[in-house]
Amino acid sequence: MTTDNNTQHTIDNDFEQVAQQSRRNFLKGGTAALGLFMAASPLSGAVAAANSKKMLGFKAIPASTADSFIVPEGYTATPLISWGDPILADAPVFDQSGTQNAAAQAGQFGDNTDGMSFFPLDENRALMAVNNEYTNYEYLFPHGGKAMTADDVKKAQAAHGVSIFEVQRDVDGNWRYVPGGYYNRRITAYTRMELTGPAAGHDLLKTAADPSGRLALGTFNNCANGQTPWGTYLTCEENFNGYFSSDNDVELTKHQKRYGLSTAKDKYQWQKHDERFDLAKHPQEPNRFGWVVEIDPTDPASTPKKRTALGRFKHENAALTLDKSGHAVVYLGDDERGEHLYRFVSRGKYNPARPAANRELLAEGTLYVARFNAAEGELKGQGEWLELTHGKNGLTAENGFPDQATVLIYAREAATQAGATTMDRPEWVAVHPDNRSVCCTLTNNKHRGKKDGQPVGGPNPRAENHYGQIVRWYPPKGDHTAVSFEWDLFLIAGNPAVKQGLYAGSQNIRKDNMFNSPDGIGFDEDGRLWIQTDGNYSNKGDFEGMGNNQMLCADPATGEIRRFATGPIACEITGLTFSSDQRTMFVGVQHPGEKGKPSHFPAGGNSKPRSTIMAIRRNDGGPIGG
Ligand code: FEO
Ligand code: CA
Ligand code: CA
Repeated sequence: MTTDNNTQHTIDNDFEQVAQQSRRNFLKGGTAALGLFMAASPLSGAVAAANSKKMLGFKAIPASTADSFIVPEGYTATPLISWGDPILADAPVFDQSGTQNAAAQAGQFGDNTDGMSFFPLDENRALMAVNNEYTNYEYLFPHGGKAMTADDVKKAQAAHGVSIFEVQRDVDGNWRYVPGGYYNRRITAYTRMELTGPAAGHDLLKTAADPSGRLALGTFNNCANGQTPWGTYLTCEENFNGYFSSDNDVELTKHQKRYGLSTAKDKYQWQKHDERFDLAKHPQEPNRFGWVVEIDPTDPASTPKKRTALGRFKHENAALTLDKSGHAVVYLGDDERGEHLYRFVSRGKYNPARPAANRELLAEGTLYVARFNAAEGELKGQGEWLELTHGKNGLTAENGFPDQATVLIYAREAATQAGATTMDRPEWVAVHPDNRSVCCTLTNNKHRGKKDGQPVGGPNPRAENHYGQIVRWYPPKGDHTAVSFEWDLFLIAGNPAVKQGLYAGSQNIRKDNMFNSPDGIGFDEDGRLWIQTDGNYSNKGDFEGMGNNQMLCADPATGEIRRFATGPIACEITGLTFSSDQRTMFVGVQHPGEKGKPSHFPAGGNSKPRSTIMAIRRNDGGPIGG
């Protein structure tokens, strides 16, 4: 998620001073010593305690293996909407038999809720735009995916994409979704979209379905998201490769291999009934996926726009901030072991007086990729943004990049050519509301130190990293368009009960707040960092004591971390947004009971588990977390 909007960029001077002080002292602190994380806190014990109370005002909860969603004392969490709930006016209510058809699913909330944003209409009405990342065939169909028909493929495609729906606050203060609301819309794997920016119309984007290279049919595997100050929603296409396959022999190109395309598996079986997913027949169809898509949630008839200027890779989220120069800057992770972290800087500048012009800010700009430098053993250092522009940094025709469109369509290969750092799976990026620092979750990487080109060191300091870490960087003087930055690690997840050294985690990780695989993150407007996990929930071995996937809250100034929520069995916690008054937090519970694990969340009894958005409130009506 991103909490970026105009008001949140109004800098509170006191807070900025504290944050800057914190940054300076943090960077001055120890080197490879794990004590860095807490010992380097700038605040005296008493001040730290007072600050901590203000920032983390709830009682931490223990790890859980229960089949329920648990929040701290004094809070209540209730389901807002679950997979299959009707969104469009003519859609049927959910039927857990799994026999509802594609047309029914196309009017219902999609499966596996992920990134989401809240768009206020007035004090008591809002729109929510929510990603539906993928679907679990074991629950979608009575046959569990073993007897796929053409309508089943259509149904799976309709369970993907984006759901937009109205919510309203009732007299009791609870937000409820509005079935059949005027703005309600489903965007699926076959919604017509426009390709925009430097790659639009390029030969590599031309397909049988669209000889112009300027259109695309649908969006899928929409992981996380972004929100713009001009009122649009950004949805990010992640593991698009898994939807393509073939029953025929296909010689894959090096480009296709770099993006993970393969015919060895056919998990979703779309190509059997929808030939545009057959790699043998339509080898360029995958080039129309792996983009960030911009959607206007206030116009149900609008055409979503794929923004090629932001590069093609397995996008996690799109953390947009307005630089003080007026440029829109978007930070972007590519979630794959050994892939990279990117930054886009818009060519144009934001103009509050000309709202319509802002709507094309993401069409043109400059893409960069990060290189992190560090002395051996250091957990902080400098870094630089390498420009991915045709003709620079080796991106020439001789090296396989004849034009800017090719640089963007094969952004991963361009990043390698430019000399980018291989990362431990960059997931969500979040910009602090003071606009001075940025965090990115590096969720885990079992290949680190084992595969060529993935050396141990810098922001990726552990071989066979099963726990993950959060890297933080500081644009110089808050300039998000600058070439260089300073970085440190905000936390290294680990298990201090069963591991030693770096695998025990940084000093702010203890037995009572440990977790693995940080994934979703977002700052609230007070600067609390919310951390969601998508990790190993076995609660055994290296993960003993961590329980189910969960959500934590951190104070960026002190490094303190407290567990705020725990999810049901075999879920991932992902997706985070707030009502405008910060009195309600919306959190996604994705794939409870995946792979047949025994969950009946949220309805209990013998019900089928359903991906669900939870609405969390403080019983006294106060701001969440404080
Ligand atoms: Fe969809 Fe990288 O998580
Ligand atoms: Ca994720
Ligand atoms: Ca993930």
